[in-house]
Amino acid sequence: MRIGVLTGGGDCPGLNAVIRAVVRKSVKVYGHECVGLRYGWAGILNDNRVELTRESTANILTRGGTILGTSRTNPYRDGADGSATVRAAMDRIGLDALIPIGGDDTLSVANRLAADGVPVVGVPKTIDNDIAGTDFTFGFHTAVQIASDAIDRLHTTAESHNRVMVVEVMGRHAGWIAAYAGIAGGADAILVPERPFDIDEICGSIRRRHDAGRTYSIVVVAEGATPSDGSAVVTPTGQVDAFGHPRLGGIAVALESEIVERTGYDARVTILGHVQRGGTPTAYDRVLATRFGIAAIDAVHDGAWGSMVALRGTEIARVPLAEALAEPKLLDPGIYETAEVFFG
Ligand code: F6P
Repeated sequence: MRIGVLTGGGDCPGLNAVIRAVVRKSVKVYGHECVGLRYGWAGILNDNRVELTRESTANILTRGGTILGTSRTNPYRDGADGSATVRAAMDRIGLDALIPIGGDDTLSVANRLAADGVPVVGVPKTIDNDIAGTDFTFGFHTAVQIASDAIDRLHTTAESHNRVMVVEVMGRHAGWIAAYAGIAGGADAILVPERPFDIDEICGSIRRRHDAGRTYSIVVVAEGATPSDGSAVVTPTGQVDAFGHPRLGGIAVALESEIVERTGYDARVTILGHVQRGGTPTAYDRVLATRFGIAAIDAVHDGAWGSMVALRGTEIARVPLAEALAEPKLLDPGIYETAEVFFG
């Protein structure tokens, strides 16, 4: 078999570990060939590809980003018949199957292709950990480590200056990074998309904390958190990507001035942004990504089309793409309740 591999959507630590695992088992055990499609679905549309061999995928286990490049290209954009285009490209290139590695957008394309009979096996990735059907995605653990390291550092400077530090982390629909990093970093308030926040309540809780003798506070906010009055904070450019998502970022800036105005305390903002997606994956993510890569090539070999590899408990499973993508996996309320015990 000749198998096309691509990485789509936002990059994520561990993508190279998946590519390496797919190629290694493909070549060594099954005798299949792998072709890298460059820059996500754009690679197949523009015939931009590279042969993937044991040699070309050596020494990439620890590397962040993706050696294939990525993009948010959508083959179905503006009503296009993405399935016909992809199928024609596969015939031209001589591909028997595809392994797209991506988040909900990239995998939603995979799901439509699978529904139209294209042989596809998906691998879930996102630092946001918001894909249903899998308990965890690789990249999440790394992002949480980066964010909690940053919070640790902010603690010492917050304490020195008696400040409120507002730390913005990624998380468009789900507050997994905010909650995990906030718990690990001992946050005094955590704002997540799943629970619209009341700014008066947040400020009241900070004030009570300071009245009780604390001299500083740490507030962690997910980029997708929204105030309970229904207003949304997105970038003023109004930019949207090929899948129609607005570009988020900056809610911490608005929060900082609200906090200063309502409490009179000095505050500062830190937006971690893409630092959370960069650099080498943690050992946990390297292992999970490697297990996903091996499971994906096994699923291709078995002809398990339309499936996505997933972590269920401690085991790697295959779940239907349609089931995994039906809705995003929101933050477990129990995790938030654990964090809440330490607020204020
Ligand atoms: O989808 C993952 C994610 O990390 C979101 O949390 C964030 O909104 C988005 O990527 C930003 O991606 P980019 O700026 O690369 O388009």
